[in-house]
Amino acid sequence: MAVRLPIIFSKAVTSTYKLLHHLRSLSNVPENSVYGGPKPQNHEKRVTLTHLRNKHKKGEPITVVTAYDYPSGVHLNEAGIDVCLVGDSASMVVHGYDTTLPITLDEMLVHCRAVARGAKRPLLIGDLPFGTYESSPTQAVDTAVRVLKEGGMDAIKLEGGAPSRITAAKAIVEAGIAVMGHVGLTPQAISVLGGFRPQGKSVASAVKVVETAMALQEAGCFSVVLECVPAPVAAAATSALRIPTIGIGAGPFCGGQVLVYHDLLGMLQHPHHAKVTPKFCKQYGRVGDVINKALSEYKEEVTNRSFPGPSHTPYKISDSDVDGFLNELHKMGLSEAASAAATAAETAETARLTEVSNPVD
Ligand code: KIV
Repeated sequence: MAVRLPIIFSKAVTSTYKLLHHLRSLSNVPENSVYGGPKPQNHEKRVTLTHLRNKHKKGEPITVVTAYDYPSGVHLNEAGIDVCLVGDSASMVVHGYDTTLPITLDEMLVHCRAVARGAKRPLLIGDLPFGTYESSPTQAVDTAVRVLKEGGMDAIKLEGGAPSRITAAKAIVEAGIAVMGHVGLTPQAISVLGGFRPQGKSVASAVKVVETAMALQEAGCFSVVLECVPAPVAAAATSALRIPTIGIGAGPFCGGQVLVYHDLLGMLQHPHHAKVTPKFCKQYGRVGDVINKALSEYKEEVTNRSFPGPSHTPYKISDSDVDGFLNELHKMGLSEAASAAATAAETAETARLTEVSNPVD
């Protein structure tokens, strides 16, 4: 027999549920940090490895973009991007360092959590930062666990194909964490590569790209990034692998493509790009120019006092309350403040009337 709740009680339960549901959707409400807190489990809505595998099987390219904070996570979500990579490129494009080496795991976790709050649909991948996984498979597993538990990510990415990295990738997969590999130009190895240089440009180097990608697949990686390699090398790796390759500066013959958020949007203020913009970065917008223009206009309008005008001065006080307020100020011995308030009230009214007769945007 169904138990019927008294109507008043059932209404209270419903409104409490609605309130909790509303609070959960606010970005400033802390979430349960275990695996990033509850996420929609609807497979239609959330991108999973199965979703990526199916796309790859059908020959559909996988879309990947980096994100570093709540707004970029929301933008990727809205655009329907498949995978959101919280890349250690944050070190350069967000923190302004010359390389990806300085960013710490704690800093990466802050970026991961912010992105996870905004990007509810894409698969979330967090980069393991330099110095947090190279020493041993145990260190690599511990770091990967933190990226999932504390960062709210679904998977991790690590760079390189040296035997120790292959072992680390295998150990992380065995710990139950999905791993994306990354070969070709691996920016964390800038010290041995001698700079941000394309890879796979000689026979030996091209073979090494394909071999390391294959070894990462054997270690259990679900995908491999190919960065800055010639298109034929990327094509060979893509053909040799069952798992999707994700290219950046690797030409069109990959299972998907990734670009850095700031590069794609034309926000080229970070130190690396001040020196050289990589040729493979197509800019789909000039957001940096839009930001510069908006900031200069703001500065100009504040300087010439045209901002804030009446339409951006929303809070009113009635004439009678202004009079009462002026009286109180006089009683407090603040006559200059009273005259400033009186002038402001008059000026605001004149500006309002002017704006009513000449509406602005
Ligand atoms: O950190 C990053 O943004 C990356 C991409 C360039 C693949 O690793």
